[in-house]
Order: sequence, then structure tokens, then C-alpha cells
Amino acid sequence: MAKVQFTETVLRDANQSLIATRMPMSVMKPILSTMDKAGYYSVECWGGATFDSCLRYLSEDPWERLRTIRKEMPNTKLQMLLRGQNLLGYKHYPDDVVIKFVERSIANGIDIIRIFDALNDMRNIKLAVETTVKNGAIASGAISYTTSPVHTLEKYVELCKEMTAMGCQTICIKDMAGVITPQETYDLVRAIKNALPSVPLILHTHCTTGMAFMSVVKAVEAGCDVIDSASSCLSGGTSQPATETLYDAFTQMGYDVPMDRKVLKQVNDHFKAYRDQCLKDGLLKPKAMATDTDALTYKVPGGMLSNLMAQLETMNALDRMDEALEETPKVRKDLGYPPLVTPMSQMVGVQAVNNVLAGERYKNVSKEVKAYMRGEYGRTPGPVDEALRKQILGDEESLTCRYADTLEPLFEKTKAELGDMARSDEDVLSYIAFPQVAEKFFEDRKAREEKMVKFTIEQM
Ligand code: CO
Repeated sequence: MAKVQFTETVLRDANQSLIATRMPMSVMKPILSTMDKAGYYSVECWGGATFDSCLRYLSEDPWERLRTIRKEMPNTKLQMLLRGQNLLGYKHYPDDVVIKFVERSIANGIDIIRIFDALNDMRNIKLAVETTVKNGAIASGAISYTTSPVHTLEKYVELCKEMTAMGCQTICIKDMAGVITPQETYDLVRAIKNALPSVPLILHTHCTTGMAFMSVVKAVEAGCDVIDSASSCLSGGTSQPATETLYDAFTQMGYDVPMDRKVLKQVNDHFKAYRDQCLKDGLLKPKAMATDTDALTYKVPGGMLSNLMAQLETMNALDRMDEALEETPKVRKDLGYPPLVTPMSQMVGVQAVNNVLAGERYKNVSKEVKAYMRGEYGRTPGPVDEALRKQILGDEESLTCRYADTLEPLFEKTKAELGDMARSDEDVLSYIAFPQVAEKFFEDRKAREEKMVKFTIEQM
């Protein structure tokens, strides 16, 4: 009997996609020991925006959160999402920081690191992959999924082979924009499985356009091993397809789904009350849970559409939306077909709007597009428009090396600068990732502790 396994995303991606990553530890903690009995392939619980959100909005130490989850879930593989050389953000970090970050993540409890680069430039994930493997964790190499004339099945298979060659034990098709269709899923899974039959393959998608449940079924039929899903009350819409629904469907189809259905229900019951609270508070908007097919019509991800609209609205130019939508794929082509995911989706969207409103293409070029043209984000999937490159960079050459090769080591220097403010290497990493936010968090933490001491003394 063929087996299908699941990665539960309620603590990370569902949390991030539906409620801006605002779920605090106090909501998670009571259910963790139950979740530990569900039989998930893994629980995605860290990385992505959780780190920033902990420090910025929840006044939680993200490392402490990870250690708590580890303690409460000793039997489940804990998984995090890492943007290769960009770690949790959008800028490149020097190698010493990447090595330290991966080491400390694993030392604090992570078992699986899903590593990707928005441009699929494999040089940007190599160091993180190698460090993960060296520290005894599972490196899962993720391809950023998009469609374009240069993103062929052959190209994706080639990327997967490169990832396994550098040490990735599993491969993930990462459709962060929720645009993959059932047929595309089937063809891509078949192609990867034909080339790498023994490498476990994972599908990550979002329900945004309504394709996800169908894509998941086609993925499994084509031999996909693991599916990302979310506890049903925080599934659907911009989140993942529902765990219990998939359990029931695949069980009936004759697959071996090694999870405890009763536990899945308990987990869902727990989060329901919180979901209702989020709806009441306005943190969860009904729109985020609905199906939106505009992304299919316009071939741009849903999040990018709303950004385009917001941008035109602030410029009092909403009537130019059709032109901006027509310009978007042209800009993308000029830039060598980057996947339309952060930060490229913003870059392409802003440039398209600029081109339309200025009445002249590339009259104003953002500094992000300039940096992209210089090669600071990595190698572009297809060639960029050479005339445009010349127009933007003049005689300046584009980088041929990894951007990180141009960066000086940063960890020890930052540690020395921080002195007492950082109590651990983990603090130093928090600071390097989000300097102002971490500094404020360190101050608040200290104030909180002083208050606690004062309270305790008064109680005595
Ligand atoms: Co996602």
C-alpha cells in the first residue's frame, strides 16, 4: 500500500498566511504534546516570518519558542523554512552568519531545514545545505515554482539533481504563490520522480486559487511522498489544504496514511476557538479564507495583485490597472523571468507601475532593480534584456560570483559590539537578522525581568 505523509503547517505557514504570523506561544503550547501524537511526517513551526513576528509583535524570544516546542514535541520532526543565504529576510548574509544560524537552529531543536532561493540560484542555498547536513539534520531542497518559457520540466529536474548532489536528502516543490495546477503538478512530480526515484518528494502549495486539493491528489497519484497541509480550521484560502480532509480522502482511496485521526480532530478543536477570536478581532479576514481566481486570469500571484492595486490607489491611478497588468509580464521577461515571489514580485510590480505612469518604460528604475541587474540577488533564471542592462548599469559589469562572496564576516564583530546586550550567540543572530527590532526586544526583556525581580522581592 502506497504511503502518504503530511507536514502540518498550522504553527508556521498557515499562521503566516492567514493571520500575519501573530499566533503567540500561549496559544500553541497547550496543544503541542497532543500534536506530538498525531504522526505527522513533520511539523513546520519555525523560520519564515515567525522569527521577526516573535521579536517585533509578540515580545517572544524566537529561540525560546523553538526550545519549548522541542521540549513539548520530543517525538516529532520539527521543521523550519530558510531562504538560503538570505536566512529569514531578503538580503544576503556573509557565510559565517549562515553557518552559525544553521548550527544554532539545529542545536536548539530543528530536525529538518527546508532551504530555497527565490531565483533558484543553487549557489545561494549550497552553504546552508552543507551546514545542515554536517550538523546531522535533514536538508530539504526546495525549488521556487513558477511558470515561464525558461522554467521547463528539464530545468526543474536539473535543479533537483543539483540539490541532491549538494546533499539535500529530500526535495520540495515550493509553490509559494499557490498557482500550480493539477496537470502541472502531475507532470512535474512525474518528471522529478522519474529522474530521482528514491528521493522523497514533498509538495507545498496554497489554496488561494482553489487548485490545491486537486493538485495534491494529482501529486500523490504521480508518486509524491509528503504533502504540506494545515489543521482544517486554519486551512484553505491563502493557507494550505486541510489535513483532516486529506486524511479522509487518501485513506478511502486506499493509501496508508500513518496519522491518528482522533488526534487530528483534537488539534483542530483546539485551534478553532483561537480562529474564531481572530475573526472577531479582525486579524483573520474572511477574504483570506476565500478562493480568488484572479491570479489565474492575470498570471500573477494574488498577493502581488493586491500590491499593484494598492500602489495605483495611492497614486490616484486605479484606472491604469489594466495597463499595469499588461506591463507586468513584459517587465518580468526583461528581467529574465524571475519567479514572482518576494522580493521579486514587488520589484517587478513597482517597475511595471512606474513604466505605465511615467509614460516611458524604465525612465525611473528602482534601486532594487539596479541591484538585481548587478547580480546581487543571484543568477537570473533566463537572460536579462541586454539593452536594458546596458541602459541601467552603463559600463558597470554584473557580478559573476555569489553576492555573499563580496561580504566580510560579521558574527564575531557584531558579538563584540553588542557586549552585554547579547546574552548568547542566539541573541547575536537575532540582532544580525533584525537589528532594531532585536535591540528593542532585549531592552523590553530586561525591563520585564527587573519588574519581576521587584515583584518577587515585594512578595517576600
Ligand atoms: Co507557503
